[in-house]
Amino acid sequence: MSWWLCFMVVLAANFYEISPGPACRISEFPCRNGRCIRLNAYCDGTNDCGDVSDEPPFCTVCNRTYYGDVGKTYALRVLKQPDARYPFLCHLTFTANGQNHGDIIQLIFDEFKVGRYEASALDGCPDGYMQLSELGRPFTGGSWCGTSSGPAAYYSETSTVTASVKLFGLTDASFAFQLRYRFFSKKEAIVRFGLPGAPIERGQIAPGTYCTRQFEECYRKPCRLQSPNYPGMYPRNVSCYWSLRQKFVPTCKHAMISVRQEAVHKMQMKRSINVAGLNKTERILRAWRDCTGERDHLIFYDGGSTNDAVLAKYCGGDWLPRVVSRGPEMLVAFHSSPFSIPLHSPSSQSPLRGFELDVEVIFVDSDSLDFSRQNTDCMFYVNATSPDSDEIWTGSGRRGRLVSPKHSLPPNSTCVYKFFGYPDDLIWISFISYSHKALLVGDNTQTLIRNDTASYGCSTRIRIWDGTSLIEDKCDESPRLCDHSALSNTSRVTRPCSKVESYLTIDRSLVIHHYTEDGTALHPAYFKLMYEFVDTKLGGEPWSKKYEGGVCHRVFRKQHVGDVISPNNVFLYGRGGAKDLDCVYRFEAENGERIRLTLYNASFGINPSCDTVIDPHTGRQICEFYAGSRLAELNIFERPWEDYRIQKTCICDNLTLSSKPLVFVSASRVVELQFTAKDMNITEDFTVIHFHVLFELIKMTDCPRNQRLSTYGGDVHFYSPPKKDDDTLCAGLPWVVESRYNRSLFLLSWGAFLPLKPRLDETTRCPSNNRVMIYSGRPPKLIRVVCPAEPGTRPLAVHVFSEEWWGEAQAAISQRPPNFMIEWIGIEPGVAAFSWLEISRPRSSLLHQLQVPVNASGNETDLECAHKCPELDACISSSLWCDGKDHCPSGFDESEAHCGATSKLLNSLPLSALAAATAVISSIIILVCLILHRSRARHRRRLAKKKLLTGPKLLDTGSLNS
Ligand SMILES: *[C@@H]1O[C@H](CO)[C@@H](O)[C@H](O)[C@H]1NC(C)=O
Ligand SMILES: *[C@@H]1O[C@H](CO)[C@@H](O)[C@H](O)[C@H]1NC(C)=O
Ligand SMILES: *[C@@H]1O[C@H](CO)[C@@H](O)[C@H](O)[C@H]1NC(C)=O
Ligand SMILES: *[C@@H]1O[C@H](CO)[C@@H](O)[C@H](O)[C@H]1NC(C)=O
Repeated sequence: MSWWLCFMVVLAANFYEISPGPACRISEFPCRNGRCIRLNAYCDGTNDCGDVSDEPPFCTVCNRTYYGDVGKTYALRVLKQPDARYPFLCHLTFTANGQNHGDIIQLIFDEFKVGRYEASALDGCPDGYMQLSELGRPFTGGSWCGTSSGPAAYYSETSTVTASVKLFGLTDASFAFQLRYRFFSKKEAIVRFGLPGAPIERGQIAPGTYCTRQFEECYRKPCRLQSPNYPGMYPRNVSCYWSLRQKFVPTCKHAMISVRQEAVHKMQMKRSINVAGLNKTERILRAWRDCTGERDHLIFYDGGSTNDAVLAKYCGGDWLPRVVSRGPEMLVAFHSSPFSIPLHSPSSQSPLRGFELDVEVIFVDSDSLDFSRQNTDCMFYVNATSPDSDEIWTGSGRRGRLVSPKHSLPPNSTCVYKFFGYPDDLIWISFISYSHKALLVGDNTQTLIRNDTASYGCSTRIRIWDGTSLIEDKCDESPRLCDHSALSNTSRVTRPCSKVESYLTIDRSLVIHHYTEDGTALHPAYFKLMYEFVDTKLGGEPWSKKYEGGVCHRVFRKQHVGDVISPNNVFLYGRGGAKDLDCVYRFEAENGERIRLTLYNASFGINPSCDTVIDPHTGRQICEFYAGSRLAELNIFERPWEDYRIQKTCICDNLTLSSKPLVFVSASRVVELQFTAKDMNITEDFTVIHFHVLFELIKMTDCPRNQRLSTYGGDVHFYSPPKKDDDTLCAGLPWVVESRYNRSLFLLSWGAFLPLKPRLDETTRCPSNNRVMIYSGRPPKLIRVVCPAEPGTRPLAVHVFSEEWWGEAQAAISQRPPNFMIEWIGIEPGVAAFSWLEISRPRSSLLHQLQVPVNASGNETDLECAHKCPELDACISSSLWCDGKDHCPSGFDESEAHCGATSKLLNSLPLSALAAATAVISSIIILVCLILHRSRARHRRRLAKKKLLTGPKLLDTGSLNS
């Protein structure tokens, strides 16, 4: 069709040659009288020249070419002569001749009445039409007709534009055609081309096309998709293909193309939609099925060709929501209908018509889940990394955030997320946000495409499977939300999501299906979730029913070596909602085996307020908590006997022991490791509270002797270094002595009592580092620390009575027989010893203690016992009497007085005879007692002076040496 335009220009040029006038400018009409008038003054019905040479008879404004000057506005009116022949044809050519004649032309159609416009007819302009064509651009063939309701603007793309009006015949419709035109220089046209310093990137036009353009590398330039002839009305019957491509993609990034327009004045396609009854604050857009018939429309393809999926079909509205391609290419197609009324500009302030779309290139991490990798499917795999890998401490690969794709999804798409964990993994997901909102559209405020045949009947649907069982199915509704977590950021942490706010599987796999019926470009459906693979592995076996155990009480047996690691299950920690953690790991060895634990590292929070210090008596690690701090520690206990749990080591500060691990070898066959953290806060989990221990069973002969005794009395000697093999094999094992019910225990040793908890910086007055530690009760409680002295040194004898001897804890007596646990801390060469006696009170003493008045003149025999250490005021077992060993501290039980010949004889008599002899013995005892009565009183006074008996309890008295 361009030949036609060329012809027109030649025609116009010839026209001028006919009337060579004086030196008028090209934008002027030369009058015959030599005056120069505006070109549009020709045939305007006014005698502008003065000689009427501009108004020849039968003149017409048609078939002429108009030039003009920049900055001036010219008007033209086409009048149809009543006698004009049909078809009536009129060409108006406007040429911007460069420099001050301008570069582009603006036409403003002030009055436009050209036949009828029949929107629904195949030929929309049955009576006639106007066409616009530009020199050097393909002819589109599109037409305008009908009656315009207001002025409409057109801006040429080139320097010559021809408006052709054609009327087919006499019609009822009147004809009126009046326009203004102006010439602009290119640099004035900033709306189209941008400011001189900041030009708008309008793309590279494809040769031979009207408006197909290519855009590349829009990440640096402000690319704009402009409708043809922007910012004026666009031509009819055009198809433009705008291909957008991002070639340069930084490594480890993925590029996506986004197109949108938020500003109403830049989004003028056809007429603006005014729908009665619609909320004015809501914005309107038409899309999909609203784009019927010959509506102008935009189609967004998810790729570089029209074979790619359609993300959106849009045909007008106040704005264009963001449409994002999956990959670095997008094709936008624009079609305008062949026929239309010229559409007037919405306001004189913004005389814009057409649209301009903003292009943006979005880069996301190429390994992220923010986009779908497959062209056709939308499938995501979230595979757990191994819970045993080192990454566990940083959490990566085991938990994260996931957002719905950042690109638009075509209609009828389902995005599938498959989570797959390791054995023993559960999957925990919490939705931080979930939204789906149909953007209001069209005349009937319905959703975009309500496909009645769609099997789902939901515009958005989310389904969640735990393994193979469906656990959630929400149609146009939110799943369980944990939306408070959306408020958390780096400086603020919100409470953990509860079970009713999240989903926890019982299987190691979870699948989410997220379906969109309308596509997400025009019906955004967005979610953000947190996921976590929860490792429930604990190692070992659960505790037998016999011992009630918590959730992380485990027992390790028959396994010769292995790692023990604190649980990695978030639900046991503060971040999972737990308050306290208490895990006990029990190790059981066989006969001839011991347990060796190697502690590689331990952590008790970011900043534990506790120090692991060395106990000055035992040389073992103990935990010193700061005042008011929460408890978090790792304890090692031994159980030489099932009912005795003895603390051996406590660790409570963060140690990276990998360079010098802490090694513990048990003295017995059962060891327990207890890991405790109380009052955890909501940020804490296994990344900050954890430990790692290696356990091994090692061969070592068992302690061959029984160190748990319940005899009437006895003695034990300690040697450092060990004297016998037994001492070596039993090193580390305490001695336990127990009495029978309703008896008491008496312990005798040599040395001096030391404070139980000496200040760490205090030097003790004990010349030795060796200690005899005396515990009582169950669990054993330290009651005495003895700085040992040479056994048998009378002045340095120390006495310890079991608690109830002093009348305390009467209830305890009935429940448990008294006991002592004695431990030898042999750090340097030395000896120590202790002896014990099972004792009971003589009745008189008991009555005295119970404050029952004792009739002194009564039968004292009944109130006393047969074998008594007078200095203790305690009865002892008859089997200890005269057995050749001192039991009473004074040695009274072996004194010559009653272990002489008579006594020996008595002892050798049979039991029946013994009863008969009781009377004799009683009389002797009474005698002795009478003698001793006064000496005992004396003795007591002396003891009291030495502050041994100042309090009701021995425990309260100070050291013997103090
Ligand atoms: C303009 O020129 C065309 C031929 O190109 C002719 O058919 C038409 O009648 C002319 N119009 C007028 C108003 O003279
Ligand atoms: C219009 O919409 C706004 C915000 O969406 C809302 O607050 C207002 O109540 C609506 N008015 C009517 C009449 O629907
Ligand atoms: C995740 O696991 C699935 C199934 O086991 C597998 O098909 C997929 O390739 C894995 N993906 C990755 C990224 O490892
Ligand atoms: C939607 O997609 C499914 C499978 O992807 C297909 O079977 C179905 O026919 C599609 N429905 C429509 C309405 O396109």
